[in-house]
Amino acid sequence: MPVVAVIGAQWGDEGKAKIIDALAEQARVIIRSQGGCNAGHTVVHQGQTYKFHHLPSGLLYSNKLCIMGPGTVIHPAVFAQEVDAMASRGVSLQSLKISERAHLTMPYHLWQEERQEYALSAHKIGTTGKGIGPTYMDKVGRLGVRVCDLYEPEAILKAQLERIVTVKRAFYGDQAHESLDVDHLMALCATYRPLFEPFVADTVAMVQTILCEEPDALTLFEGAQGVMLDVDYGTYPFVTSSNTTIGGVCLGSGIPPGRLTHTMGVMKAYLTRVGNGPFPTELKDDIGDFLADKGHEVGTTTGRRRRCGWFDGVVGKYSAMVNGLDSIALNKLDVLTGLSEIKVCTGYYCKATGQTLTQFPARLSALESCEPIYTTVPGWQEDISTIRHYADLPAQVKQLVAVIEEVVGVPVSVASIGPDRVETLWRDSVQALSKACLVAAG
Ligand code: GDP
Ligand code: IMO
Ligand code: MG
Repeated sequence: MPVVAVIGAQWGDEGKAKIIDALAEQARVIIRSQGGCNAGHTVVHQGQTYKFHHLPSGLLYSNKLCIMGPGTVIHPAVFAQEVDAMASRGVSLQSLKISERAHLTMPYHLWQEERQEYALSAHKIGTTGKGIGPTYMDKVGRLGVRVCDLYEPEAILKAQLERIVTVKRAFYGDQAHESLDVDHLMALCATYRPLFEPFVADTVAMVQTILCEEPDALTLFEGAQGVMLDVDYGTYPFVTSSNTTIGGVCLGSGIPPGRLTHTMGVMKAYLTRVGNGPFPTELKDDIGDFLADKGHEVGTTTGRRRRCGWFDGVVGKYSAMVNGLDSIALNKLDVLTGLSEIKVCTGYYCKATGQTLTQFPARLSALESCEPIYTTVPGWQEDISTIRHYADLPAQVKQLVAVIEEVVGVPVSVASIGPDRVETLWRDSVQALSKACLVAAG
């Protein structure tokens, strides 16, 4: 029973959805286990571009069970828009299931986030503005509203909302937001109920049943964000509010760690980041602009321009360690076409101590006196986007792949040379990942 986690191994937007889409054809189940509509996952197929936020991108295949797991958070208004937009494009939502345990983003969460970012001013995180942080804060603070709560008897739901409102008013006093009114919230919940009704399920039991009864079925996890945005392992506080690393996959789906058969880290052949926070290999020069323009590096969710830089092997190695990566999907190699040389960061030189850091430090200030140490590989000029077999790639591309494998310490199983499903090259040695997983799982 192959269970493959496809997770972001940098700062998000690595092209996870593209890889999920390439694998999903062979899958039975595709699960999102954390995050919410802060995610922006793009799939390009036959000239059509689809942008997913809450919904698993496996929905493009009509016969796959697509799950939003217990660890996800849902913004009802954005969810409604996304469902309508997909339905209007002929995407079937028949196979979508939402965990009854998923948490809801309420209007006051959006207001809290706006207040926090405003107060932080120049030091703000640069969030996606979707209420993700406050929703997870209330979940952990035991003040959340779960999908299943909507279906409680009215008196029970009302008592729960009263409890929440009491605490919020104690914090925010007279400045409390107008949405902190129990009747208003009850009315909102009444509109949410029919919205979620067709989809709500005990997704944990559903997946366990499939794992037990359909031993050959491939289960895919569609990660959101990336390791450096993980609330525990990322560049805190410039992170999101969930565990984007492998632990979050299990916690947010109810699938025990022992069930995982392969963890694939998705990386760009360079690096991008949206929002604020450290980025040691950032390029604030013509090459940075070249990558941003050629790679169309604009955030799917916020429309913000992504910051660009060279591939960071320290981040890659750290990601491999924290996630136990079995393989790498290396995306956007085509974007590097035309550069005379390409750099890969292999470590950080710390001027203050004279030492080289090869592990990502917890204290962000430790990065301040660091500069990246690069190894340089030759670029290539020929168009690689029409190549359909890994073996046919120019020697310089293969050299870059080899350098990245060496510095991260994990093999590259997939190389991507364009946004479309067909622009995905499986390595000769691996063939198709699901096949390798089936072999690994015996
Ligand atoms: P995700 O959040 O990790 O799923 O990534 P996004 O969808 O936010 O951003 C990745 C972007 O790169 C999308 O616009 C993809 O269509 C695009 N993309 C993915 N792989 C490739 C590739 O190999 N080459 C090019 N040129 N674009 C790619
Ligand atoms: P996908 O799944 C890139 C970033 C935001 C901000 C920080 C916190 O498409 O890779 P949040 O709204 O989550 O509280 O914002 O995290 N961020 C992402 N960056 N890709 C994403 O998702 C992201 N989701 C959140 O820009 O810096
Ligand atoms: Mg994205």
